[in-house]
Amino acid sequence: MEIAYNILLILHFVGLASLLGGVMVQFRPLAAGKAVVNAAMFHGVLTQLVTGLLMVGIAEMGDGDVNHMKIGIKLAVLIVITVLVFIYRRRQNVASWVVWLIGALTVANIAIAVLV
Ligand code: HEM
Repeated sequence: MEIAYNILLILHFVGLASLLGGVMVQFRPLAAGKAVVNAAMFHGVLTQLVTGLLMVGIAEMGDGDVNHMKIGIKLAVLIVITVLVFIYRRRQNVASWVVWLIGALTVANIAIAVLV
């Protein structure tokens, strides 16, 4: 199970890279008022959700050493990101706050993962 957990953690980082990378490639379009919610954000957010939940499941099956408060906050933040991505991903052009908020919440979740 440890190998499965470690593979999921690696994929969790890949999902994070996709989500944050998706935001970063929008910086130039943002300046031109042409930002979109792209596929990298969409796949990244889903990867974070699936890998995160599976890791929690594996941890609960093992020694059960799960920080529920930390996971609860991260899950709540991720749900907000997911809702934003789902609402705005089909729009041709989104307001800049949408992209900034997705990026800020992603960075907030990194901080929670590392600091809490
Ligand atoms: C944008 C959303 C997310 C980001 C940016 C993120 C970021 C991170 C980072 C940087 C780590 C590695 C640091 C650490 O081990 O503490 C991590 C680990 C982890 N994350 Fe996330 N995460 C997100 C969402 C989630 C969600 C929704 C869940 C669960 C429902 C979750 C569950 C976990 C678990 C179980 C670990 C492993 C902790 C450990 O083994 O110590 N993550 N996450």
